[in-house]
Amino acid sequence: MSVHQSANIKRITTHILQEMKQRGEKISMLTAYDYSMAGIVDAAGIDMILVGDSASNVMAGHETTLPITLDQMIYHAASVVRAVSRALVVVDIPFGSYQGNSSEALRSAIRIMKEAGAHAVKVEGGAEIKESVVRILSAGVPVMGHLGLTPQSIYKFGTYSVRAKEETEAQKLLDDAKILEDCGCFALVLEKIPASLAKRVSEAVRIPVIGIGAGPHVDGQVLVLHDMLGITQEFQPRFLRQYADLRGVMLDAVGKYIQDVKSRDFPNKGESY
Ligand code: KIV
Repeated sequence: MSVHQSANIKRITTHILQEMKQRGEKISMLTAYDYSMAGIVDAAGIDMILVGDSASNVMAGHETTLPITLDQMIYHAASVVRAVSRALVVVDIPFGSYQGNSSEALRSAIRIMKEAGAHAVKVEGGAEIKESVVRILSAGVPVMGHLGLTPQSIYKFGTYSVRAKEETEAQKLLDDAKILEDCGCFALVLEKIPASLAKRVSEAVRIPVIGIGAGPHVDGQVLVLHDMLGITQEFQPRFLRQYADLRGVMLDAVGKYIQDVKSRDFPNKGESY
């Protein structure tokens, strides 16, 4: 049987992701924030789409993910969900909408599920947000955890450098992964940690582990769409593989259009009524 068995599946569910881990089929995940891009990513056969709070950087031009609001995340998520027929759509609960108050966490998750039609939510952190995770799960909302470099805590970390290189932080990350699994999370994202640690986590938990800058020994990979397509070019971390130069393609196309307008070549007779 092919390891790409999931290619024939009409709709990806958390249960199918679990089966993919069990049979060793790698899980593909990319971000998307709007209808047009999400439709293309889904048509290409991606397993999971993350409506990440990286929308704060990529779509809104903020320096961090902190400013994006719950209303803005719901707007992006609803646009993505309308375009998707196969992928599982996971939506980040933004900074300030779930930490420290499990009732607010539940309200935020329910708004994302009801108003955007999302299939799951993602939250950053381990033991410190356990109460919020349990509360969201109690409403039947699938939760994905996110450990390692958690961008919502950038002001605590101070830099975007690799996390958990020391054993104390590595052990806390392993403990947090077990806590999130025991709570009932359906999957985890591990961001920018040593590949050896990501391997230990993936082997220690039964749920799928999706890496970004976490090496090859995990159950799947996620990248920010605009980075891998070469639309954003100022962000070039070592873990990023760029699959296209869409910025170059767009600059070229827009440049040609400007030229055609200025030279009166566009529109021609066939393009007029
Ligand atoms: O917001 C995001 O895009 C993310 C990924 C980097 C995993 O959380």
